[in-house]
Amino acid sequence: MSFREKLNLDKLPEHVAIIMDGNGRWAKEKGKMRVFGHKNGVLAVRDTVEGAAEVGIKNLTLYAFSTENWNRPKLEVTALMELLVSSINKETKTLMENNVKLNAIGDLESLPKRCYHELLEAIAKTSNNSRLTLTLALSYSSRWEILNATKKIVADTTSGKLKADDINEKMFESYLSTHNLPDPELMIRTSGEHRISNYLLWQLAYAELYFTSTLWPDFRREDLFKAVYDYQQRERRFGLTSEQIG
Ligand code: FPP
Repeated sequence: MSFREKLNLDKLPEHVAIIMDGNGRWAKEKGKMRVFGHKNGVLAVRDTVEGAAEVGIKNLTLYAFSTENWNRPKLEVTALMELLVSSINKETKTLMENNVKLNAIGDLESLPKRCYHELLEAIAKTSNNSRLTLTLALSYSSRWEILNATKKIVADTTSGKLKADDINEKMFESYLSTHNLPDPELMIRTSGEHRISNYLLWQLAYAELYFTSTLWPDFRREDLFKAVYDYQQRERRFGLTSEQIG
């Protein structure tokens, strides 16, 4: 029986976040350049997005480029940006056909101009789609996001728009770039690394973490379903006891 068949479709996570890791190692294993791994990573992105839409997951967030990734060799950064632009161009039609809304979080203005504009265009084009929201974390890091939110809150408090007493979790969340998304219930990281790497630190507070040794370019929808199935077997207690959850 496949994991797809084993899934309880009434108990799906509303939001799945993924750290796509292992492209470089996948390419190295095959004696190829790292960029070859990233190119094949795009195929994994497509299949995973289709799989999420197929079963009815409403939100999928992919860590595509971290703030720290800017420090990679220039050639790799340029190739990744090119890949991003060409993938967005190529996939916008498929996103439209599948009713997928594209969204992006991160320091988007730091992206190369062409990449930034193509991205905004695709986001605008797909903005009325509603089956699945696909969020790309680009030039993103969680500490950057939290600091940014804090700066805005301080500015709004100083200008009198916000009272210090009104700052609570809900208010803070409304200043994060994920303000229109529910918190992920499940976070998947591929390639056998057991770290969160500055990804959605606030939002993952209660998430179930799932690690697989599969390298990202090999990841397919059945791997997603396996992770969701694993999540569905877990008891989420939010600090309560098993008895309280009943
Ligand atoms: C991590 O593998 C992967 C990345 C830093 C980039 C992910 C990008 C893609 C899959 C392609 C573009 C994405 C979209 C959304 C169209 P790594 O390079 O860190 O691998 P390693 O740990 O084996 O070196």
